[in-house]
Amino acid sequence: MAKDWDLIVTGGDVFTPSGLVSADVAVAEGRIVDIGALDRARADEVFDAKGLTVLPGVIDTQVHFREPGLEHKEDLESGTRAAVMGGVTAVFEMPNTSPATIDEAAINDKLTRAEGRAWCDHAFFAGAAAENAERLGELERLPGVCGVKIFMGSSTGSLLVHEDEDLRRILKHVNRRVAVHSEDEVRLRERFELIREGGKVSQHPEWRDVETAVRSTKRLLKLAREAGKRIHVLHVTTAEEVPILAAAKDIATMEVTPQHLTLAAPYCYEEIGSFAQMNPPIREARHREALWEAVRLGIVDVVGSDHAPHTREEKAAPYPRSPSGMPGVQTLLPLLLDHMNAGKLTLERLVDLTSAGAQRIYNIAGKGRIAVGYDGDFTVVDLKAKTHIEQAWLQSKCGWSPFEGKPITGWPMATIIRGHVAMRDGELRGGPTGRPVRFMETLPHGGGE
Ligand code: DOR
Repeated sequence: MAKDWDLIVTGGDVFTPSGLVSADVAVAEGRIVDIGALDRARADEVFDAKGLTVLPGVIDTQVHFREPGLEHKEDLESGTRAAVMGGVTAVFEMPNTSPATIDEAAINDKLTRAEGRAWCDHAFFAGAAAENAERLGELERLPGVCGVKIFMGSSTGSLLVHEDEDLRRILKHVNRRVAVHSEDEVRLRERFELIREGGKVSQHPEWRDVETAVRSTKRLLKLAREAGKRIHVLHVTTAEEVPILAAAKDIATMEVTPQHLTLAAPYCYEEIGSFAQMNPPIREARHREALWEAVRLGIVDVVGSDHAPHTREEKAAPYPRSPSGMPGVQTLLPLLLDHMNAGKLTLERLVDLTSAGAQRIYNIAGKGRIAVGYDGDFTVVDLKAKTHIEQAWLQSKCGWSPFEGKPITGWPMATIIRGHVAMRDGELRGGPTGRPVRFMETLPHGGGE
C-alpha cells in the first residue's frame, strides 16, 4: 500500500523555528509535511536520528568548482560530492571559470553540466564585467542563478570591474543583492612591487593590506548607497571593515570564511606556506578575533567556505606565482562545530550562519529552516563526535586541505536533500540528484531604482 510519506527522520533533536525540540519530521515529494510525534509506519523510509541533532540543511554560498575549463582542479561532480560529505545540502558557485559565466549560454551550460552529476542542490552566479553590465538585470533573474558577483580586485581568473563608472552601470542594472569581492585594484597594482621579486608568501597580507580592503569596501558602500542597491561583502578579513559594515546593515550583508576564523598570520604561512595563500589574505590574530566578535554581535550574516581548489603542483610555484585559494566546502561545518564546542559560538548562531543567513541574503525559496512547506533538507550532526580531518575523507580533486590532521569535535553524520539521504556515516547513497535552487520572485527589471 502506498505510504503517506517518503521519509521520516525520527528520534532526533530537531532545530525548528521554535527551538531545539525532540520530534520526528516527515517528508513527502521533497517537502517537509509534518513535525511532531509521528507514526513511522506511514513512511517508506525511516531515518533513525536517535542521539543526533537535525539541523536545517547547510548552504555554502561561496564555492569555486572550476567547471568548465579547469576541471583538473575540480568539477561539478567532485565539488558537490565534497559538499555532501561535509554535510552541505546546497552550494552557490562562482563565475570565474573558463569561460567566465557572463552570459546566458554560460549559465545554461553550467546548469546542464550539473544535471545528473551534482550531488547537492546548486545555483550559479552571473559574473559582472564592463561589457555585460546592461544585461545583468536579465541574467540575475534566470532560473538557477543566485545573483551577480563582482570582483573589484583581481584574483583567480580574468573577471574584474574596478572603475567607478562601470560599477555604477552594474549597480544601476542589478536589482537583487550583489555579491562583491572587495579589494582595491589600484592599490593592489601599486603595492605589487613589494613582492614582485623575491617576495615571500608571508608578505601576502602586506601586499593585499588592510587599507586595500577598507578603501574598496568604503567605495563600494558609497556607490551602492547612491544607486539604492543592496550588496553582500564576501570574505571580510579586517577588523577595520567590521564597524563600517555594522553601520550599513540597511544595505549591506557580510560573509566570513571558516579559514579566516581559524587560521592566523604569520603562523599559517610558517606552517603551510602557500597552502594558506588566498584572497583576501589570512591576517594576524587581531583580525581573527574581531571577526569572532562580529559573529558574536550578529554583524556577520553568513559563513561561506570560498572553496577554491588548486593542485599541489600549482601551489608549489614560487610566490607570487602560486595561485590564491584553498578548498573548504567539506570542512566548513566540521570547523564550525569544533568552534562551537570550544565555546566560540552557539548552535543557534551556527544555524543562522549556515542556513537562515543564506536564505535572508539571497531570498532562497523553500530552504533555510525546518518548517512545513520547506524542502526536506537536513544536515544531521553528532554534536559530540570526536575525530580528525583525514586526507582519505577529502573528496576535492585537489586532494589536500589546510586542516588535514586537525582534531575536531562535532561531525556531519548525514546529508538529506529534499528527502533523499545523500550521505550517511561517511558513505554516499544513491546517485547525484542535485537540482537548481529556487528563489523568490525578484523585482521586475528596472524596479527598485
Ligand atoms: O583566494 C581566492 N581564490 N580568492 C578568490 O577570490 C578567488 C579564488 C579562486 O577562484 O581561486
